[in-house]
Amino acid sequence: MSKQDKTRELRLALGSFPTGVTVVTCLDSDNKPLGFTANSFTSVSLDPKLISICIDKSSFNIDSFSIVRHFAVSVLSEEQQAISTTFATPNKDRFKNIDWDSKNTGSPVITGSVAWFDCNTEQVINAGDHLILVGQVVAFDSSPKTPLMYLRGNYVNLGLEQKMRLAMENENTITVVGALIEWQKKVLLLKDKMSGELYFPSASRLGHVDDVLSLLGVLKKLNISINEHYLFSVFERPEDKTSLIYYRAQVKEVSIESQDDFYDFDTIPFDQLSDEASRIMLKRYIKERKLNAFGIFVGKESEGKIEAISTTNQNL
Ligand SMILES: Cc1cc2nc3c(=O)[nH]c(=O)nc-3n(C[C@H](O)[C@H](O)[C@H](O)COP(=O)(O)O)c2cc1C
Repeated sequence: MSKQDKTRELRLALGSFPTGVTVVTCLDSDNKPLGFTANSFTSVSLDPKLISICIDKSSFNIDSFSIVRHFAVSVLSEEQQAISTTFATPNKDRFKNIDWDSKNTGSPVITGSVAWFDCNTEQVINAGDHLILVGQVVAFDSSPKTPLMYLRGNYVNLGLEQKMRLAMENENTITVVGALIEWQKKVLLLKDKMSGELYFPSASRLGHVDDVLSLLGVLKKLNISINEHYLFSVFERPEDKTSLIYYRAQVKEVSIESQDDFYDFDTIPFDQLSDEASRIMLKRYIKERKLNAFGIFVGKESEGKIEAISTTNQNL
């Protein structure tokens, strides 16, 4: 195995440890706010109150962070996924559309975060290709909001998972489980032979590949094999008392016969989709995909900082 493959394997193994997502911030010598997304946040000591974060030495702002006297850590809520993407994507002015204020040290604290820790720098430790910043907490606060979570290079939305469980437990509703399957920036849509309408593959349960009545069974019949799928949307259709649960997944390869069922993001015939909810969901998917909101953090070794899923193939 090459060194690069080994590093990738290690990164995958490390990614199986679920974390929250934070934004680490400070003011530079010109009092300009700086910040980056970090999931390396750790509580270190209660007395004295110490926390730590790790910053990659190849970070654009490493010079400021390596001599920083104060910094703050804001723990993002699940509504703040876009903020995580902003602070992990190269941009000179990440604070442009972000609400923030200062607490004790002047370091920016992101408004609406689940918790924040305002710190004096206690220690900067040299650790391989990263620096460990140990902060002495001088002020902090927390709220009961649900934190954004990160696992295996994907954001996990606990609120959505809970909504799905509730939908499945509701005996008064029918459940439809569907999937947005992406291959090479194209999405899988099946065509109703009678009406010509396009719809997402779906079934009454997620199931498994050997269950022909389940979504995974339906996909297998279509020769689509998915390794990992992520919850994307859960909503109700009150007219026919239906709970709809949609997953998203990426496939690396599709058989020649199935390729025609994949529609390019830029040329999707939205008017042929079977219903408005599918149109809204697909538009949202394409928008988030273009914003790289399902981005995979693969570190600085690759050319991108958050790399597009399709170029890493790590989550499928
Ligand atoms: C969920 C997530 C967690 C991350 N955690 C860290 C981290 O702990 N340390 C780090 O240096 N970079 C981390 N990154 C990457 C940085 O946020 C990203 O490389 C950023 O662009 C660095 O900004 P800078 O180069 O402008 O300083 C993470 C990215 C994501 C999406």
